[in-house]
Amino acid sequence: MSIDTTWLRCPNCFLPLEAVDARVLGCGAGHRFDLSKHGFVTLLPPKAPTTKGDDRGMLAARSSLLDGGAYAPIAAAIADVAAAVPPSASGAPLRIADLGCGTGYYSATLARAVPGAAFLLADRSPDAVRMSLRALPGATGVVLDLWRPLPIRDGVVDVALNVFAPRNGVEFARVLRPNGRLVVVVPAAEHLHELRRSGALLDVPPGKADRVAEQLGESGFELKSKTSIEYALETDAATRSLLAGMGPSAHHAASLSPVTGSNDDLIGVTIAVDLLVFARSPWSPA
Ligand SMILES: C[S@@+](CC[C@H](N)C(=O)[O-])C[C@H]1O[C@@H](n2cnc3c(N)ncnc32)[C@H](O)[C@@H]1O
Repeated sequence: MSIDTTWLRCPNCFLPLEAVDARVLGCGAGHRFDLSKHGFVTLLPPKAPTTKGDDRGMLAARSSLLDGGAYAPIAAAIADVAAAVPPSASGAPLRIADLGCGTGYYSATLARAVPGAAFLLADRSPDAVRMSLRALPGATGVVLDLWRPLPIRDGVVDVALNVFAPRNGVEFARVLRPNGRLVVVVPAAEHLHELRRSGALLDVPPGKADRVAEQLGESGFELKSKTSIEYALETDAATRSLLAGMGPSAHHAASLSPVTGSNDDLIGVTIAVDLLVFARSPWSPA
């Protein structure tokens, strides 16, 4: 089995999970979890909400756009941060957890920048975990809910990656090792503003990065750096549809204007995000 259980704890009782046999994980209290035929495991707590994460259409849109290199500068900036994180005191390979991994695009880029690193690919959407494991077959894939206590052991993550995904500061602080890094990417107010102006996307409230830094500060994180990444992406109508279809606005498509225009109609669209790097501060609750 390709699951590395040293990442994992039971979502019910929080005891460590171990392999019971080739297809089943279990904890000392007798809770059991089957591996899917694709090699990932679903570790949802009792009474998990029915949210499903991104659907196949959103994932397909994101995959087409990302594989075409539209967000390559963001991936490169993340890879630079991860490559500079010092190894743990044990000298073991870097352990990177992609929390809200989507298609796995950013982790696949990191795997090239940090050879030998071990990856945990985690998302609420089983389709996302399956797709990201295709991008990174040696990784451990887990379906989980980022809003709940995570089925990840204390202090086993060297680098936590959270790109355009929900954040659970208290749990991120618990799973990160001391001196580890939390890398967060959030959209800036200008992000895709040409599409917002035409009513095709939801607004990004201004000051999002500052609010995220404040919230994570309350969970024991210290902001080490903030980098703004901004560039113009030349888009045809098909690319603009992918941009609209891959993000949270896709959940509200009925109340938003469709993207119009032909593929000869090239428009520069602003990509503007903030890349925040946090360390666990000494007074972290974890
Ligand atoms: C906008 S996408 C970003 C995906 C990826 N990080 C990227 O940038 O390509 C947000 C991701 O968070 C996942 N997600 C949403 N709610 C979640 C939850 N409660 N727990 C875990 N993942 C969740 C979605 O399924 C989706 O893959």
